[in-house]
Amino acid sequence: MAHFLVVYATTEGQTRKIAERVRARLAAAGHQTTLVDARAAVSQELGTFDAAVLAASLHVGQHQKEIVQFIRNHRARLERVPTAFVSVSLSASSTEAKDLDGAWAAVDEMFEELDWEATRVHLAAGAVHDRQLGFLKRWMIHRILREKGVEMDPSGDMEFTDWLALDLFLDTFLAHCVTPGRAIA
Ligand SMILES: Cc1cc2nc3c(=O)[nH]c(=O)nc-3n(C[C@H](O)[C@H](O)[C@H](O)COP(=O)(O)O)c2cc1C
Repeated sequence: MAHFLVVYATTEGQTRKIAERVRARLAAAGHQTTLVDARAAVSQELGTFDAAVLAASLHVGQHQKEIVQFIRNHRARLERVPTAFVSVSLSASSTEAKDLDGAWAAVDEMFEELDWEATRVHLAAGAVHDRQLGFLKRWMIHRILREKGVEMDPSGDMEFTDWLALDLFLDTFLAHCVTPGRAIA
């Protein structure tokens, strides 16, 4: 059994949901997990961990500053273990190359800024929940959706996250973590 740290930053809540799914899948595979909100992590004692999954979402082309700060603060420890980064965005739900390229570019920019990179990266499609958004942000997101030919659901909730793709990514990451010579379990 290995100890996985799962750290997330969220603005509207979807990345927390994704991080909870990550935690549950790792726990179901028999591993110990600690789920941490990057906002609270500054003052939190993390203890030791064998691998880490970090998740954050894109807002106006950037991931939350809290995840950047978390990585900065714990970089030395993160460099010693296998790490996965899950970038959550609407671009990840697109089939257009320019959207996906943009999502990858945001990850690359963050890694460059940090002079650090995760062992594995997954782009996860996010969600839109109108009740989480003020008028301006709601208008902005609906306009972006409309440009992509998507009309907002009248319920005010649209989830694009591909949960099976996330599970598959995690399983591949787990397999990577227990590869001989890198065994953590
Ligand atoms: C104000 C705002 C700006 C956003 N900017 C981007 C963006 O630049 N690129 C993108 O792909 N998605 C963008 N999104 C979509 C979010 O990444 C998506 O809704 C995600 O699920 C939010 O995750 P969270 O709920 O964990 O904060 C934006 C959403 C909002 C509300």
